[in-house]
Amino acid sequence: MAANILHKILAAAGIAGFAVASLPAAVHAGCTAAATCSACGACSACAASACNPCNPCNPCGAVEPVELTDAEAQAAYGCFKDTMQSGYAKSGLTSNMGLAIATAYQGWTRYTMRAYVSTHGGRFVHNYGNQAARGYGNFEDAGTMPVGAVLAKDSFVVRHGKRGAGPLFVMEKMAAGFNADSGNWRYTLVMPGGKVIGITNGAGSNNVEFCIGCHMAAEDTDSMMFLPEEYRATF
Ligand code: HEC
Repeated sequence: MAANILHKILAAAGIAGFAVASLPAAVHAGCTAAATCSACGACSACAASACNPCNPCNPCGAVEPVELTDAEAQAAYGCFKDTMQSGYAKSGLTSNMGLAIATAYQGWTRYTMRAYVSTHGGRFVHNYGNQAARGYGNFEDAGTMPVGAVLAKDSFVVRHGKRGAGPLFVMEKMAAGFNADSGNWRYTLVMPGGKVIGITNGAGSNNVEFCIGCHMAAEDTDSMMFLPEEYRATF
């Protein structure tokens, strides 16, 4: 039922046509088009407290999945791409070697053909990797990532007709000795407004412990979980 309504809303908004800038205010009762597409806008699903378990930006909070056609998912990503980039950029997140992450990841190799619904709270995501992480494209045959490999996954939420940018999920391979429990991966969680919720062995490290807990289940593939085959980009 909810998905049906959403489809109608998206159709009414002409979302399939990338005409996002001109979204009618009716998409969100009481919201302007600009606010609808702004992660910080009052209409944004992400505006609520990050700690609220009902907040779709809360990495622990489950999000009721909504079905989007490929075209709708593509168009929604088009809406949030710039908002996500500029929001995450406020974190100033760089790699341990000083390479830009938050301001640069959208220019890296994208391993997703189109956004897919992730295990990460039912958000739609795209997977990116930097130059050092190029082996990621071999997916299950990727082996062990070299030090300096960075994988970044941005996200957006679609729920009951509300849409908002979601967090940026980052994994960076560190040198041996960094943290055996995490497979020497440094996990970082960046909120859509740029606030860093936690970084392994850094500020808020406890807040990203749960990343390790789940990813270590994939110890055989160096903690990488990849993505469903039908969404993988081919090179
Ligand atoms: C409940 C399990 C679970 C938790 C918790 C989790 N992840 Fe993931 N993660 C996955 C799965 C499964 C994938 C691959 C497919 C997908 O997105 O559903 C993935 C993919 C990723 C990727 C892309 C690289 C890869 O593994 O293929 C990054 C980056 C990532 N997660 C970062 C994080 C960060 C940062 C956190 C914590 C804030 C986190 N993850 C928490 C399950 C989890």
